[in-house]
Amino acid sequence: MDIVLETMEFVKRKLSGEESGHDWWHIDRVYSNCLQIMNETNEVLNKEVVELASLLHDIADWKFNNGDETVGPRVARKWLESQQAEEEVIDHVCQIIKDLSFKGAGTKSPMKSLEGQIVQDADRLDAIGAIGIARAFAYGGYKGQELFNPAIEPKLHETAEQYKSQRTTTINHFFEKLLLLKDRMNTPAAIKIANERHQYMINFLDNFLRENNGEGSVHY
Ligand code: ADP
Ligand code: NI
Repeated sequence: MDIVLETMEFVKRKLSGEESGHDWWHIDRVYSNCLQIMNETNEVLNKEVVELASLLHDIADWKFNNGDETVGPRVARKWLESQQAEEEVIDHVCQIIKDLSFKGAGTKSPMKSLEGQIVQDADRLDAIGAIGIARAFAYGGYKGQELFNPAIEPKLHETAEQYKSQRTTTINHFFEKLLLLKDRMNTPAAIKIANERHQYMINFLDNFLRENNGEGSVHY
């Protein structure tokens, strides 16, 4: 059987039922986003690397492994070796998974290859728009976080450090991170989709804050 199909089955088995926003359906959407971006990209690239990296990118998310970001690439390598993938493909996929773990509002894209940039874009697209809104509230519920707290002003935090040390709300997460993502996309295809999804979030936040405040204008 094809290694991409085998990997799909492997990831589905591993991640089914994951509650915090990294379930199989997140992977499925990121994979589809990758296919869409690749369809609109004329540059030469290794399609298999993109497909495998998107499927394996959250296989052992570092947040749930006591901050050990080596777990994901290690699990991915072991799996790909068991499938007799080419060494070059394994190295590239594991590098992408490692680089993807550098995230947060202040983090500049560390992605060196076009393949990595596509997977990063595809993952970020799933954090914005209607799906992004749903995932943010699902994550907030999982963490027992407040929806919104008028005492914590929506604002942009400058560094990932500040972001970590501050108690947050789900609405605040939009200002800390989700509204910044459209300007961090790498590929033209993703930029186009991100702009649409961004506008949808702005409309949502406008309504949310307006309903919360009675009336009044909101600044982003
Ligand atoms: P991924 O690995 O898919 O890039 P993360 O692990 O950073 O994303 O987060 C998973 C999901 O949870 C994303 O949709 C993200 O927006 C959301 N999320 C992360 N932190 C928070 C938070 N503090 N409040 C609300 N949603 C959050
Ligand atoms: Ni992801």
